[in-house]
Amino acid sequence: MIQKIYRYLQGKRRHRQSELAKAALLSGAGNPDTTTPPFAESLEDPTSFYERTFIGFHRSLPDGLRNHREYFKQEKRGFGEDAFHVMWWRLFNEFKPTSFLEIGVYRGQVLSLVSLIAKHEGALCRVVGISPFSCVGDTVSKYRTDLDYRSDTLSNFAHFSLTEPELLKAYSTDPEAVKVIKSTEWDMIYIDGNHDYEIVLKDWEVCAASVKPGGIIILDDSGLSTSYQPPPFATGGHPGPSRLASEIDSYLFREILQVGHNRVFQKSAQ
Ligand SMILES: C[S@@+](CC[C@H](N)C(=O)[O-])C[C@H]1O[C@@H](n2cnc3c(N)ncnc32)[C@H](O)[C@@H]1O
Repeated sequence: MIQKIYRYLQGKRRHRQSELAKAALLSGAGNPDTTTPPFAESLEDPTSFYERTFIGFHRSLPDGLRNHREYFKQEKRGFGEDAFHVMWWRLFNEFKPTSFLEIGVYRGQVLSLVSLIAKHEGALCRVVGISPFSCVGDTVSKYRTDLDYRSDTLSNFAHFSLTEPELLKAYSTDPEAVKVIKSTEWDMIYIDGNHDYEIVLKDWEVCAASVKPGGIIILDDSGLSTSYQPPPFATGGHPGPSRLASEIDSYLFREILQVGHNRVFQKSAQ
């Protein structure tokens, strides 16, 4: 009982600190000149870049994309952080992908965001998700058990009047999933499934071989092995993806962007 009360009070304190930190950033004190700085600045100072991107969510992101984030924040439909919506918007506009693969879909926040950005930009993009569509977690994550994740994802797409994505119900390491990953040269792949090192490593290996030269892989939860200092309303990531990110061969993949605990790697043109 005492532990429960302690946890409750800790949560309240964290929430208050987060709200104060957000308000301080948005209040204008030390306002940045731009909320969409060049990607390269994120590698020099990931903390300042993240703060500017967070401000960008409130100042530069189109309303429709901001509303999408608000919808996924309601009823805990999604994880992630406001700044990541700006990251996806900027990545889409920079790389103009015609194919996007997500490993680890949960309730479809990022998959539907990519579809929505494509619609917003009048672009065509094939959107594919691989996930168990169940409550399967890992050593650092637990998910609720009372949801049909596949139909929930589809109803979230329907909420935004988006074309249904291609969904494969499987673990990313299952043979049928590996077959889908290897079936084409992807423009953009987002790895956010199982966070344990051995599985992220397998995901990275198959995705690294399957993304096109010049294409990009976004690795979630991989900020712990960088100088990034998350503000109270953000997190640095998990040990598995962070270790994997620090082992990537920089000759084959160049890191081009870090937004909080998301790191983006571009495959060398061959
Ligand atoms: C953090 S959530 C993903 C959130 C999602 N990327 C988003 O931004 O909306 C991780 C998801 O990966 C799924 N997952 C767990 N193990 C997996 C595996 N081996 N392959 C693919 N997905 C997996 C989980 O069930 C969960 O839905």
